[in-house]
Amino acid sequence: MEELLREERKFYPSSTFTKQANIQDNSIYETASRDFTAYWEKEAENLYWFKKWDKALEWEPPFAKWFINGKINAAYNCLDRHADGLRKNKPAIIWEGEPGESKTLTYGDLTREVKLFANVLKNQGIQRGDRVTLYMPMIPELTIAMLACARIGAVHSIVFGGFSSQALQERINDCKSKLVITADGGYRRGGIIPLKHSVNAAVENCPSVEKVIVVSRIGDNGLASMHPGRDLWWHELMADSSDHCPAEEMDSEDMLFILYTSGTTGKPKGIVHTTGGYLTGVASTHKMVFDLKEDDIYWCTADIGWITGHSYLVYGPLANGATTIMYEGAPDWPEKDRFWEIIEKYKATIFYTAPTAIRACMKWGSKWPEKRDLSSLRLLGTVGEPINPEAWMWYHKHIGGERCPIVDTWWQTETGQILISPLPGITATKPGSATKPLPGINAQIVDAAGNPVPNGTGGFLVLKSPWPAMLRNIYGDTDRFIFQYWSRFENTYFTGDGAKTDEDGYFWIMGRIDDVINVAGHRIGTMEVESALVDHPAVAEAAVIGRSHELKGQAVVAFITLREGHEGNLDLAKEIKQHVVIKIGALARPEEIFFTELPKTRSGKIMRRLLRDIAENRSLGDTTTLADASVINQLKLLQAN
Ligand code: WTA
Repeated sequence: MEELLREERKFYPSSTFTKQANIQDNSIYETASRDFTAYWEKEAENLYWFKKWDKALEWEPPFAKWFINGKINAAYNCLDRHADGLRKNKPAIIWEGEPGESKTLTYGDLTREVKLFANVLKNQGIQRGDRVTLYMPMIPELTIAMLACARIGAVHSIVFGGFSSQALQERINDCKSKLVITADGGYRRGGIIPLKHSVNAAVENCPSVEKVIVVSRIGDNGLASMHPGRDLWWHELMADSSDHCPAEEMDSEDMLFILYTSGTTGKPKGIVHTTGGYLTGVASTHKMVFDLKEDDIYWCTADIGWITGHSYLVYGPLANGATTIMYEGAPDWPEKDRFWEIIEKYKATIFYTAPTAIRACMKWGSKWPEKRDLSSLRLLGTVGEPINPEAWMWYHKHIGGERCPIVDTWWQTETGQILISPLPGITATKPGSATKPLPGINAQIVDAAGNPVPNGTGGFLVLKSPWPAMLRNIYGDTDRFIFQYWSRFENTYFTGDGAKTDEDGYFWIMGRIDDVINVAGHRIGTMEVESALVDHPAVAEAAVIGRSHELKGQAVVAFITLREGHEGNLDLAKEIKQHVVIKIGALARPEEIFFTELPKTRSGKIMRRLLRDIAENRSLGDTTTLADASVINQLKLLQAN
């Protein structure tokens, strides 16, 4: 971090960029801070409301309600509004499958498909407020299913396809979904992910699930292994459906979706987002941060299973009537220039990805982007983790051709929308800094007592005022919602991140200060991995930490005490790693396992700081609070090995 703060390079947007930018001067910050409610009201007016709200905000901390009594439908705003107007034949989604096929859905096409599937849902007995779990590859049907839920007022809960069947089961049971939508499989790096097999295993123990709808992506009946009476083919249901389906008039505060994310306990949290505020927040920030124009070809590489995909691949871009690229597979398949090939092929103008992907591309070398024509690009973005200045510079030079502003966007599953980011036409950027809170956002860095810290001093990143796309609750667990986010500082949202400002007031995010780690841009709770580890019969106790990793940002490292009669060896380590894959998914697989006693304080707390020192091969700091000093020798031995 000290190193980051010495970053003095500043990059100003070119005058050509600024002249055409949606936002060209700073006055918007003042306007918004004078009255943030009025500011967001104006943004909400860009959406279509069946009935306008009576009042913009009711704020009884920690409970916010936005656009009270407003009636709105998210799918209507993302579809009909454009299809019934001038954008009927404008591409909404340009989809590219990993094996190379391509499909374009115009706003007219997408609207029709969503209406058809919305009727399928209704025919299966899905009603307003019912939960529907989606466990799908990155295919157009995923977006269709999401928007069909939104159209009829059902609540979608999307589970990333990289999660295991046990993780899926836990998430289905938590929100008691009636229906699961999946595919026979999805393509990834030339292989096939057998999603339906995982669904079969999961729903055996999900009493709420009545039906499973299956898209034939691979076209393999063996993979699909359909259960008669329970499982239905997507294409058969669609063939019998009707495309007459008016959008439900939802209340602004009706739930739009639940998205599970990792927290400080073993149990994932179902983050609740509602309709009017969420859509206002994502549509407004998408247009502003990405300087969106009518003819842009916008590409966000995130999987829709994460919040970035929800907000900036689907809801934000489609609410704005944008053309958005959706890609099914891996960046290095079949070759390491797949991203650049797609940009060249569709003449993408805006590209939004994670630092982890940039670091991987950087490692593969600039010869890959050099083979492709990237001159259509005019703006780049990053999200999900801090970007190291080296990766920023590579992105700027080799992808942006030194002409594209880079927006480093800070936000969270909970915040729903981007909160800290440059505005590309006016903000001078510094590699590694997300720069400043957006207009209408009241972010601060405070000390343990909640007082603002001076520039240069690290502290807790908090939000002092509500914003429209903020989470409303944790599904089924209001106490946890209050405790987790609102108990540390009065009437203030605590992000879980540490940060500093520099002498220009720019924000530098220093990463999580709770028990959450960020592996390749994916949020993983250390307690979640620990619960998976102690579930293995040989494991007595486990502690998990994030170790700095050149490519992934952080990697999972586990320290394990074995039960009597078990011996720590490579085979057992392998078996235990696989156990984590089964319990959570490959994204949480420990990179390394150390077998050892765990260092604890006299009050029994595991000294994670010490474990991080061991894992990162640093000298061990203060160990005087250890209950059992002999553990130190064991740990030092680990380091020596
Ligand atoms: C981290 C992803 C630095 C941060 C949208 C946050 C970032 C967590 C940035 C949320 C950024 C996200 N710079 N760190 N630009 N963006 N983070 O919920 O620690 O998957 O709390 O949402 O990612 O991760 P989540």
